[in-house]
Amino acid sequence: MDIIIVDNLKRIFKSKNNEFVALKGINFSVKEGEIFGLLGPNGAGKTTTIKILTTMLAPSEGNAKILGFDTFKDSKKVREYINFVFGGERSLYWRLSARDNLAYFADLYKIPRKKQSELIESLIQRVGLSEFIDKRVENFSKGMKQRLQIARSLLNNPKIIFLDEPSIGLDPVGAMELRELIKQLAKDGVTILLTTHYMPEAEELCDRIAIIKKGEIVALDNVVGLQNLVSYERKEEIKAKKAREQEERNKKNLEITLEDIYIELLGEK
Ligand SMILES: Nc1ncnc2c1ncn2[C@@H]1O[C@H](COP(=O)(O)OP(=O)(O)OP(=O)(O)O)[C@@H](O)[C@H]1O
Ligand SMILES: [Mg+2]
Repeated sequence: MDIIIVDNLKRIFKSKNNEFVALKGINFSVKEGEIFGLLGPNGAGKTTTIKILTTMLAPSEGNAKILGFDTFKDSKKVREYINFVFGGERSLYWRLSARDNLAYFADLYKIPRKKQSELIESLIQRVGLSEFIDKRVENFSKGMKQRLQIARSLLNNPKIIFLDEPSIGLDPVGAMELRELIKQLAKDGVTILLTTHYMPEAEELCDRIAIIKKGEIVALDNVVGLQNLVSYERKEEIKAKKAREQEERNKKNLEITLEDIYIELLGEK
């Protein structure tokens, strides 16, 4: 089932004497349970798309539907089913503990106080922060803050979570833990729309990927399908280059990557 349907979505930003078309009428849909990636250069329109899908921005033309509800006309209904995390966002209260942060947001979601403590504890456990539940967020690493944001985003038991560059600024271990968490959420049946500039992350996580450039979708497929957009000749050239790089690595006795080593040395698990 298509849980997100984006139909000819266009967004124009107008200022006094100019107009900028950030989205030129894009189309795509996301299936329930998918991890869907939205990739593309800075300024391509990824955040604009997410802002429209999360009801924060109105489309100029076209529409987006979530579970059949229009993100603009039925925004209240849409908000019941979704949540989002923006990378580098500071929506947590640094002077409060993890528990108190979630309690604050639980109040905003009008979750009855009686139900809150059990829910908060289970969400904090789900993102691996039980040990730190009563510690102040200001002492959390960026990775821990990002996992707490995800716990915050699960408060309303959303069917879809939008993650806009969730791994930005995270160290390799923090980023790996975040990827594991995202995979677990998908296993639990949450549909995820993700943007990232880190290709290995998209390759590892995404079932399908849309590539967006200057407000237009230029490709949409799974990683294997996208690979087929590259010509046989170019693929052979790229493979040859990779083989040469591997040879260089072998000469230096580099059996595993620096990222592998980093995670081994610094990861806690
Ligand atoms: N409120 C706004 N007013 C005017 N222009 C805007 C506004 N919001 C976004 N834009 C422009 O629309 C374009 C798309 O921006 P958007 O933030 O969607 O890009 P992005 O793909 O998320 O890029 P990045 O990878 O850097 O996050 C950019 O050129 C941006 O300057
Ligand atoms: Mg962006």
